[in-house]
Amino acid sequence: MDASVLLALRDPAGVPFYPIVFQVLYILTWALHAAFVLLSLGAMGLSLYGSAKGKTDKYWSILTPHLIQTGKISVSILIVLGVAPLLFTQVIYDPNWYVTNTLSGMWIFIFVYTMVVGYSMYYWYYYANKAQRTGSTLIGFVSFGILVFAGILMHNFAVTSIMPQQWMSMYAPNGVVNTSGWTFNLDIIRLAFMVSLSIPVVGIFLQNYSHFLSTRKDFDASFISYSAKLGTNFAVIGLLISAVLFVLWMLQVKYLFHPVSLATIVGVLVLLVMAKINSNSYYTTLILVVVALLISTMRELIRFDIMSGLGYSIYDYPINFEIPSIVMFLSTFLVMGFVGVAFLLTMAWKVGKSEGVFDGSKDVMVNRLGQSTLYIMIAWMVIYFGWGITILFKNIL
Ligand code: HEM
Repeated sequence: MDASVLLALRDPAGVPFYPIVFQVLYILTWALHAAFVLLSLGAMGLSLYGSAKGKTDKYWSILTPHLIQTGKISVSILIVLGVAPLLFTQVIYDPNWYVTNTLSGMWIFIFVYTMVVGYSMYYWYYYANKAQRTGSTLIGFVSFGILVFAGILMHNFAVTSIMPQQWMSMYAPNGVVNTSGWTFNLDIIRLAFMVSLSIPVVGIFLQNYSHFLSTRKDFDASFISYSAKLGTNFAVIGLLISAVLFVLWMLQVKYLFHPVSLATIVGVLVLLVMAKINSNSYYTTLILVVVALLISTMRELIRFDIMSGLGYSIYDYPINFEIPSIVMFLSTFLVMGFVGVAFLLTMAWKVGKSEGVFDGSKDVMVNRLGQSTLYIMIAWMVIYFGWGITILFKNIL
């Protein structure tokens, strides 16, 4: 693949701001997407074990519905957070993303329906488990399989997009054009590494879960220590498996001794010690966030190097400054996003910490954050639509 083809595939309008900003945002938002992918797969996978055990086990009868609920909410968050890296990748790596969408067009369609069917079945699993219906585990297994398949498809898109040297042979194998849209590429080690991370993630989640509930009088101390131990086992075993797969992946792509790879290995070792000791799982989670950012950086580094090697550097992307859009985007992301998320998190935290029914209207902090979110959203709508309509009329009248 020659650089002129890649450069010709770029958006002639250029990018609206410095490309490095989009690159950093890509790394950040993909790490967030991955965090909820891993939590949903881990929580859902583990809930299947609990669901198969039924109501007979006193610990699992508490844990299973909580895991199902965690997975259910995480899927919705991972979908929302998946959109952000999608937007950033198509701004700076548009040749890669759109070529992949063309080569794997059928899989892109299938991906959308996979998500719809997989997530709808998850709700079915949730309600069937709640009603203790026989067969709820089977429904859960099918939904889990479908959502894992969605991840495999996502992996296919990511891998195909970093294979520009092979695009021509995928598009026209042996010189015959193939427009079927069925291109499918797998990198088993990379995929296994990504999916394996759901084991330590659910382990650290369980440690947090027991830490969080330890202040509640209505949860038995034996249940708290059972879930903490379970979490430690999952975190330790999972981290060992992921560490081996990470080293294999790095050996395969020849990045093992790169500083980012070495920093990731050190991060995983620190996590291993912290998870094993489990003195404060909230600190372990902070290190997990750092490791997630390092893994996201590693993915980006691999892509950046492949593309730079072919003469396509995102830093040379023509810039056509569009300050108003950037200001609108950043203020939405930072002001509305942070206040809104702070409101939801504060409320969720307080609901979880209180025994019985939590009345948000009587809590000063929740009230203040809720009202601020509402006012910011109203102001946002007025500005967004007012601005849009003004520009529209200015352009057409
Ligand atoms: C249960 C559903 C999903 C799972 C299990 C999943 C899993 C994954 C995995 C494992 C990767 C990394 C692939 C790799 O680097 O090899 C990935 C990347 C990604 N996912 Fe998801 N994903 C899901 C749904 C979504 C949705 C709904 C969106 C968008 C709305 C999305 C957007 C992305 C993006 C943009 C990337 C990065 C692609 C790239 O760098 O080329 N994902 N996902």
